[in-house]
Amino acid sequence: MNSTHDLAEKVALVSGSSRGIGKKIAYHLLSGGAKVYLTGRSQEDLDQTYNSLSEQFPDQVCRYLGDLSNTVTIAGLLKTIHEDHGHIDIVVANIGSGRSQSGWDVPDNLWEESMQINFLSAVRLSRESLRYMTEAKSGSIIFIASVAGVETIAAPVPYACAKAALLSYMKNTAPIAARYGIRMNAVSPGNVFFPGGTWDKKMRENPEQTRNYIRDTVPLQRFGTPDDIGSMVRYLASDAASFITGADFVVDGGQTRSL
Ligand SMILES: NC(=O)c1ccc[n+]([C@@H]2O[C@H](COP(=O)([O-])OP(=O)(O)OC[C@H]3O[C@@H](n4cnc5c(N)ncnc54)[C@H](OP(=O)(O)O)[C@@H]3O)[C@@H](O)[C@H]2O)c1
Repeated sequence: MNSTHDLAEKVALVSGSSRGIGKKIAYHLLSGGAKVYLTGRSQEDLDQTYNSLSEQFPDQVCRYLGDLSNTVTIAGLLKTIHEDHGHIDIVVANIGSGRSQSGWDVPDNLWEESMQINFLSAVRLSRESLRYMTEAKSGSIIFIASVAGVETIAAPVPYACAKAALLSYMKNTAPIAARYGIRMNAVSPGNVFFPGGTWDKKMRENPEQTRNYIRDTVPLQRFGTPDDIGSMVRYLASDAASFITGADFVVDGGQTRSL
């Protein structure tokens, strides 16, 4: 990605950006010159990320501690951002979790939990952001989905279904938002490794099996990195992607096989 400030003057919100993929998405948007709101529920993680990114990008980073899966909190944060800056240009719906139960006999509460965190939280964030973006007649919303929503891989079924629903929401809403000059896209990551993440845990618990899985199922034979996802999000948020909407970008080292 180039080093110019392709996102200068833009205001961005990345839900769930105190750790992992969301943190790197925030980093890439900051590198583009955007002002970025970080969010998370753990004060310690949020402060740590805020402090390290503020050192690199003084006056560009803001933070918000809270649960960004419910409408009241989301609406309150967007109102604050709008009051402080007058516009909200880029919204990245990144919150999600693949932790669920495998197999067919999944109880209601785990189905509901997965739909809440992986699907409805993103729908709510998108809907509340569109209130401001339709008024401004511009904006870019990017959803972090998963290869599990694109193809059948051995992911827990509630997670796969929630991410597939998210892609359908994006695809169906993008043409409506396009009438207001707003772009909506998704990024579907493959297996992304970072310290403390899901794949770090799998590597510790079962190193050989996990290494073999990556070697046998991912043509590029490596894990993805949060930078692989962050740089794609920066591109989609920028004017370089001004003709792209309603699209899902799979970033998976070739793992998915469908056309
Ligand atoms: N890791 C992968 O290999 C992979 C692959 C495909 C897709 N994805 C998708 O990529 C996204 C990010 O995954 P990740 O692995 O980076 O997740 P992660 O390590 O669990 O990080 C999630 C981030 O979201 C925050 N968060 C979670 N729930 C929240 C809530 N209700 N309100 C506010 N913040 C919340 C977390 O902080 P707190 O816990 O402190 O709130 C953290 O900052 C997810 O949508 C995931 O499904 C990941």
